[in-house]
Amino acid sequence: MNKSREADRIRELKQAINQHNKYYYVLNAPQISDFEYDLLLRELIELEHQFPHLITADSPTQHIGSDLSVPGTSFQRVRHKTPMLSLSNTYDKQELLDFHNRILKAVAAPATADTTFATTATDGAPAAAIEYVCELKLDGTAICLSYQNGHLVRALTRGDGTYGDDVTANVLRIASIPTQLPPADTFALPYPAQFEIRGEIVMSFSRFRELNEIKEEQGEPPFANPRNAAAGTLKLLSAEEVERRRLDCYVYHLVTETDGIQTQWQALEAARQWGFPVSEQRKLCHNIQEVTEFLELWDKKRTDLPVATDGIVIKVNDFTLHKKLGMTAKSPRWATAYKFQAEQAVTRLLSVDFQVGRTGAITPVANLEPVFLSGTTVKRASLHNADQIALHDIRLGDTVFIEKGGEIIPKVVGVDLGLRPQGTHPFQYIQTCPECGTPLERDAGEAKHFCPNRWGCPPQIKGRISHFMSRKAMNILGGDALIEQLYSKDLATSPADLYDLTPHKLEVLENWGTKSTENLLASLAASKNVSFPRVLYALGIPYVGETTAKYLAEHFGSLRALQNASFEELKEAPEIGEKIALAICQFFSDSRNTEAIERFRQAGLSFEQTQSQAQKVSDLLEGKRFVISGTFTRSREEVKNLITAHGGKVLASVSGNTDYFLTGEKVGPSKMKKATELNVLIINENDFMSLIERPQTLF
Ligand code: IVH
Repeated sequence: MNKSREADRIRELKQAINQHNKYYYVLNAPQISDFEYDLLLRELIELEHQFPHLITADSPTQHIGSDLSVPGTSFQRVRHKTPMLSLSNTYDKQELLDFHNRILKAVAAPATADTTFATTATDGAPAAAIEYVCELKLDGTAICLSYQNGHLVRALTRGDGTYGDDVTANVLRIASIPTQLPPADTFALPYPAQFEIRGEIVMSFSRFRELNEIKEEQGEPPFANPRNAAAGTLKLLSAEEVERRRLDCYVYHLVTETDGIQTQWQALEAARQWGFPVSEQRKLCHNIQEVTEFLELWDKKRTDLPVATDGIVIKVNDFTLHKKLGMTAKSPRWATAYKFQAEQAVTRLLSVDFQVGRTGAITPVANLEPVFLSGTTVKRASLHNADQIALHDIRLGDTVFIEKGGEIIPKVVGVDLGLRPQGTHPFQYIQTCPECGTPLERDAGEAKHFCPNRWGCPPQIKGRISHFMSRKAMNILGGDALIEQLYSKDLATSPADLYDLTPHKLEVLENWGTKSTENLLASLAASKNVSFPRVLYALGIPYVGETTAKYLAEHFGSLRALQNASFEELKEAPEIGEKIALAICQFFSDSRNTEAIERFRQAGLSFEQTQSQAQKVSDLLEGKRFVISGTFTRSREEVKNLITAHGGKVLASVSGNTDYFLTGEKVGPSKMKKATELNVLIINENDFMSLIERPQTLF
């Protein structure tokens, strides 16, 4: 490479890495795999190593990727007392040995550095005894927690390593993070009066799948993996939503020097005793062989874990050695990460199909030459959307890399350009719906194209019927094959037609006997007892998933009340933002929807919240409007249930007609200000309890 080529390549790499940092840390939507990212970074590190005069302060090798939000928007930016560093990493066991040897050298242990993984050093003496702690590298987002006298006072994201975003309000809603520790003197090894501890906030695979199901139901793009879901959740503006998403946390680094703690192993044990969640999957290794055994074990077993891991972190155990080893600009020299390769396969892209979902969203799907990957044969993989295809310049006939991440459906992550056949052309994305021919549309800011022909596009119609019948909605027996026949024989072109089915009409179905007819009709009859929140969910109003339907049902009490609610009234309901309120208004303003609702009403579906669903216990708070804020000794859900059980209503924001502002600890300051300005009666949890237990006290 000649000199200007090197400079060009360095510039190119810097630009690409900085761009990918933004996708990863700020947008929580990575465009390339971690492995591809690490390859770019490594190339840059090597070039800069060869040509140190080309290193500039803005190089991504000199600072860590930043997750900071745009200034002045949502979170306060706070300087870290101790910078939050990153970790050097490797995918290679030989490099791990280099790491070990560097440490041996630096601490001036016997001059006989290991050159292999044999149990003895070259002179036959036992290998130097450096102890390492091996921990899982959990794939989430880093958090720095500050405690004062055992009380959680602040939580900061890593940010750019120097400044972090203050996400305390959200972190208070993560159940596994202690907000108040037992008194320090109850421990043999007390915690310091002020200390900082760091860890990883993660989302379990099971929560991740549930969340994505909800997102898909609501027509929102799903998260790519549990890491993005955790990082995205931590930056939400609704602490209630953070609580619902049930994040987890594991701590791994006690930052503050603490009497009696001299090693990483002791620090983890002390943190566990103080009440912090510490991963059980850790090991104190007495030599580098034990380290490699741990790596090999977890490379195989990691898929059994409930949370995503992308490697193992190896840390020198002894804190005095940490001081001796020090750090580079970005990472400590006493630790490194050994990363697992995401399992990849290479195959050929044969063709691309376009699927049309219930909401009209288009998903391109790759048809591949079958290839074996992590235990299954893969024939199809997701291509996400038009931008992704363009970004990777994926063309028909290309040799492509596919990967399975935390998600179940494999995805195409790149192209082997060296194997591109001659005469290929850039991929032409479709302009019209593959099912009904309608020109596709794409809303500003949306990644996916969609077909606007809601009432005439077959997969959208069938998708609505399928959603209506699904287990969590009306729970009507029958799968896609039945829906296909009902639709093609003109027996059901909308969910409302299902209730007009008769034994006579069903006779035309193929492979269908009288028993099947009996079962289907019995199931349709039983669906008339399905509760109102589920009926509301079954209607398929955009963005109204299961949870939103429950809130709406509870708040409005009946479908009529919901239909008659104005945009403003909808926005006042708990957890309903502008986007959902608008979708509900639009839904009810379409006569095709209201006609279907009339037919459902005649069929006898439940359109009202019954007493038992709300578990009403008294009318004490009848007509009273509450707004609640902060944390309580009871869970928030419990407090809300108590209010509704006594006939009250819970609203999202303080307004002139709020009766009570019920405050816990850490009340939202803007709500408090508004409540004071509007002269709303402010009560605490005790006041509230006496209100429902001894009503005369406050009325
Ligand atoms: S130690 C100076 N331990 O990996 C200490 N990090 O690439 C640096 N991570 O920012 C962190 N599990 O978000 C450490 N057991 C573990 C970890 C861990 C996950 C994350 C953490 C860090 C990133 C570094």
